[in-house]
Amino acid sequence: MAYPKAAPERTLVEHGPAGLRRWCAQRRRAGETIGMVPTMGALHEGHLNLMTELGKVVDRVVVSIFVNPTQFAPGEDFGRYPRQEEADLAKLASIGVDMAYLPTPEAMYPRGFSSEITVGGPLTERLEAVIRPGHFTGVATVVAKLLLQTMPDVAAFGEKDYQQLQVLRRMVADLDLPVEILPVKTVRDAFGLALSSRNAYLSDAERAIARRLNVVLADAAQALRAGATGAAACAEAERTLREIGFTGVDYVAFADPDTLAPLAKFDGRGRLLAAVRLGKTRLIDNTAV
Ligand code: PAJ
Repeated sequence: MAYPKAAPERTLVEHGPAGLRRWCAQRRRAGETIGMVPTMGALHEGHLNLMTELGKVVDRVVVSIFVNPTQFAPGEDFGRYPRQEEADLAKLASIGVDMAYLPTPEAMYPRGFSSEITVGGPLTERLEAVIRPGHFTGVATVVAKLLLQTMPDVAAFGEKDYQQLQVLRRMVADLDLPVEILPVKTVRDAFGLALSSRNAYLSDAERAIARRLNVVLADAAQALRAGATGAAACAEAERTLREIGFTGVDYVAFADPDTLAPLAKFDGRGRLLAAVRLGKTRLIDNTAV
């Protein structure tokens, strides 16, 4: 990373697990620690910030870019998900990332591939798990593979995808994966809109609407702190979101920050999470209360 540690001139690239493992083993023999940031590319400042934060606690950073087909349901945006490999590699090099891991689909899912990891329990009974059936099994399976291929000391994930972060924490704990998870705060634009690769789908008019999602969540958080019930605050936020011009509201929910179980009232801690639609684009955001 771009630190006192000698940063390499360029970012190395590997396309399969064998080459990645060889490089990681070399680094480990040299006594270096390794960090990993799994991504699906179309990198923005939110992704880059994960890498920079991770670079403060490990010697080498590996970034994977893989648009994972198994976490998209039929009819979702897998086919049109933005792919910008060259621009992404330039961004990684510019911040001194050591290794870009761009596995081919065949390297990740060779013929005959038949295994999956499903995180059960309350964490995957609500919210994204209901709207996107199978999504977290796709995420858990690919992240487990990426972690086992890299064996990083630390892996960084964004709070932007809050339920994903909790599901992956659960998986790492349940399977005794020897990796520490570093959660990183959501990076936003000047208007508070959480950066997302999917923001690229938005027209100017839609972007103006999208920028109000975080404001509505902040208002709802304020109402909760002032004593509103979870049900009332969420219903009011949902009504406002539709009025502003969001074409759909999948959910607004007030939940326990660890288990994501619904909370009736604010009692010193809680997370407010929302998923909305704007035309063909689906956006998620969340905030601590
Ligand atoms: P992707 O959406 O590319 O996100 C990669 C990582 O960047 C995730 O940990 C996500 O939470 C984080 N991130 C995205 N936008 C952010 C923002 N504005 N601020 C902070 N962090 C942000 O999430 C995935 O890919 C995939 O599900 C993956 C984990 C790679 C598995 O395929």
